[in-house]
Amino acid sequence: MPATPRVNALQKLWLREIGIEKTWLPAGPVAAAAAPSPEARGAAEPESAPRPAAAPAPVPRPAVAAAAAPGPAAAPPAAAPTRPAARPAAVAKPPAPAPADAPVPATVPVPAHDLEAMREQVVQCTACGLCNGRRHAVFGMGARPARWMVVGEAPGEQEDRQGLPFVGRSGQLLDAMLASVGMSREKDVFIANVIKCRPPGNRNPKPEEIAACSPYLMRQIELLKPERILVLGRFAAQTLLGTDATIGSLRGRRHTLAAPDGREIPVVVSYHPAYLLRSPGEKARAWQDLRLAAALG
Ligand code: URA
Repeated sequence: MPATPRVNALQKLWLREIGIEKTWLPAGPVAAAAAPSPEARGAAEPESAPRPAAAPAPVPRPAVAAAAAPGPAAAPPAAAPTRPAARPAAVAKPPAPAPADAPVPATVPVPAHDLEAMREQVVQCTACGLCNGRRHAVFGMGARPARWMVVGEAPGEQEDRQGLPFVGRSGQLLDAMLASVGMSREKDVFIANVIKCRPPGNRNPKPEEIAACSPYLMRQIELLKPERILVLGRFAAQTLLGTDATIGSLRGRRHTLAAPDGREIPVVVSYHPAYLLRSPGEKARAWQDLRLAAALG
């Protein structure tokens, strides 16, 4: 059994709040995949096939080249025991090049000089059809400077109404999870999504929408210079790391995103909070991922 992590009283309270009573993971098989939910993007994180819209749809990388960390190209079998903290560093798997027939966005934004200029760009953006259905573009929010960046998928209904990321139930869980490792969006973390406008009916983002929007995320990463990035859910992980690997094979280990300034930003992948709300049995694994992110140097 893995060593029980030291947890202080406050962390214990937070862990109870997010439904984790045990701070260790029993050795055993990865839980079976939950059935996908149509209404909650990111809620379904099956260990099997990647979502079609996201993979392979690598982020255009004018700003930041993804250098995914090493690791087996294929997902481990669903029954393989997982010991996230003890796994060796994974092998870099360079992102797949954009296919020749990849859709080209109508307009690629000129990189903004600072985040405020970029917020304006995002609010005005009409680079893909999602602008037609949005109430608000969701630029992102959080601490500046930001020690961590959290990257989700796309705004849901609440986020579209308020113009802020992760403000629904998933956001509450995310805040509680961050608090369990002593982090908050007010003080330490900037939260952004791969896609800044809500896909209608919470459908999966299309490749052309990802291609149009992801330069914004890349530029946010470049400007914010986070010490590390926590990527939530299969869609965001596959997009940011330029892979079609499963969430089960990506989480629990360190990846690296190479910034144009030469910095290598450690990246940890974990389950999307919407998925955790549906599959609370996986919260302990998500907490292992948070601890891994917190421990990275
Ligand atoms: N899910 C996401 O991926 N991002 C949000 O901002 C809200 C829900």
